[in-house]
Amino acid sequence: MKLDARREALLKRTFLDFRQTAEFLEHPLIFKRAEGLYCWDIEGRRYFDAIGGVFVAALGHGNPRVLDAMRRQMERMTFAPPLHGIADVTLDFIEKLGSVAPGNLKYVKPFSGGSESTESAMKFARQYFKQTGHPGKYKFISRYHGYHGSTGAAMSASGTGTRKTKFEPQMPGFLKVFPPTHYRSQFADWDECNRFAARAIEDVIVAEDPDTVAGVMVEPIGNTGGIITPTAEYFQIIREICDRYNVLLIFDEVITGFGKTGRMFAAQTFGVTPDILCCGKGISNGAIPLAAMIAREDMAAAFWGRPEDDVQFAHGNTFAGNPLACAAGIAVIDEIVERRLAEHAAEMGEYLAAKLESLKKYGVVREVRGKGILRGVELVKDPRTMEPYPELGMALKSTSVENGLILRVDPTWFAVAPALTAEKQDIDEMCALIERALVQALERVSGRQAIVQER
Ligand SMILES: Cc1ncc(COP(=O)(O)O)c(C=O)c1O
Repeated sequence: MKLDARREALLKRTFLDFRQTAEFLEHPLIFKRAEGLYCWDIEGRRYFDAIGGVFVAALGHGNPRVLDAMRRQMERMTFAPPLHGIADVTLDFIEKLGSVAPGNLKYVKPFSGGSESTESAMKFARQYFKQTGHPGKYKFISRYHGYHGSTGAAMSASGTGTRKTKFEPQMPGFLKVFPPTHYRSQFADWDECNRFAARAIEDVIVAEDPDTVAGVMVEPIGNTGGIITPTAEYFQIIREICDRYNVLLIFDEVITGFGKTGRMFAAQTFGVTPDILCCGKGISNGAIPLAAMIAREDMAAAFWGRPEDDVQFAHGNTFAGNPLACAAGIAVIDEIVERRLAEHAAEMGEYLAAKLESLKKYGVVREVRGKGILRGVELVKDPRTMEPYPELGMALKSTSVENGLILRVDPTWFAVAPALTAEKQDIDEMCALIERALVQALERVSGRQAIVQER
């Protein structure tokens, strides 16, 4: 893309998320329009959006029902005085989200972004313990390779290399364990690897003193670690450990929520109900910032009292529960439920996984992971040695965009999560683009023609 002087100057006046502007200016990409599974840049070039922006547009860009709901709400009210009351539509949203959340997760606090929801969940947990006779419980255990957001506590709970070290020291009271993949090479058996990783959490709780541990925060499927997909048993073990030591289990479903894993939430896919669930991204289909924290209904009792007790949740954000955002959120949930899109994603996910598995023929794919339409592919130099292949990922970053494909590449793995509405022919189209981009990347890196290998 050729940039005019004005746009180039403007790009130098801002910064892109996690990206070097100087590098971006070599291959800039400025979007103008999006619809369904596609985005268009300012030159009119079309891109297949294999990740719904960034795991956001779960219904496809510009879903008409969501936009209509927002238009109708816009005519009524776009902001309600938060220190005096709450918008009626926000109550509707609380009811709607509670109706699709697992178990007795019914206590809903809406927010404007994933980081707000994870940050608030940790504040909520600490205040909860202070008001239920366990004031010493303040520590959080989370996982290396995880990402929970950009704010203080969310960043401290995150365990992703330089995204975290640049801002260290982290807040005190944040401890990390490894997700199951880290131990993989030490266990021949994947189930055993998961059991070991789950039990490591108990070891940390005991070593730290259970009376000081407030919560365990995990992404059910870890995106930044490369779509790390533990077994259902892994979560069952963690659930039992949390119950044993009165530690809250917090699921960060900012990516996995809203149908991608084949159920509304990954908690339902894995059959384990957390005490607090954080969600964002797909919740508004990207039409407007929205997120939410959903806690066990009975936990709310700890925040119930007379004004002089001062036990109310000491927390708020100006745009939390914004009427336009809540109208969008209701429409998203209605679309997913009425069109049975989570079930559709489960079915299409199997088709997608089989297509991605077929990439193993090029000898650089170790594993295809994920659930539903959220899938990740790990790239290796040789599946037998399992040596990572970041050079290939770096090349794939370029060849995917050159082929009109928006893909998440990191660079030892890549991930896809097309809209829940994607049909077989859409997945065929996306996978053909992925294959072409991968072959070109392989040829660019190896300097030879990519060959289909015998298996
Ligand atoms: C798992 C997870 N949690 C939290 C966040 C933070 O969300 P946001 O960027 O909306 O603040 C993200 C963002 O990518 C995420 O992937």
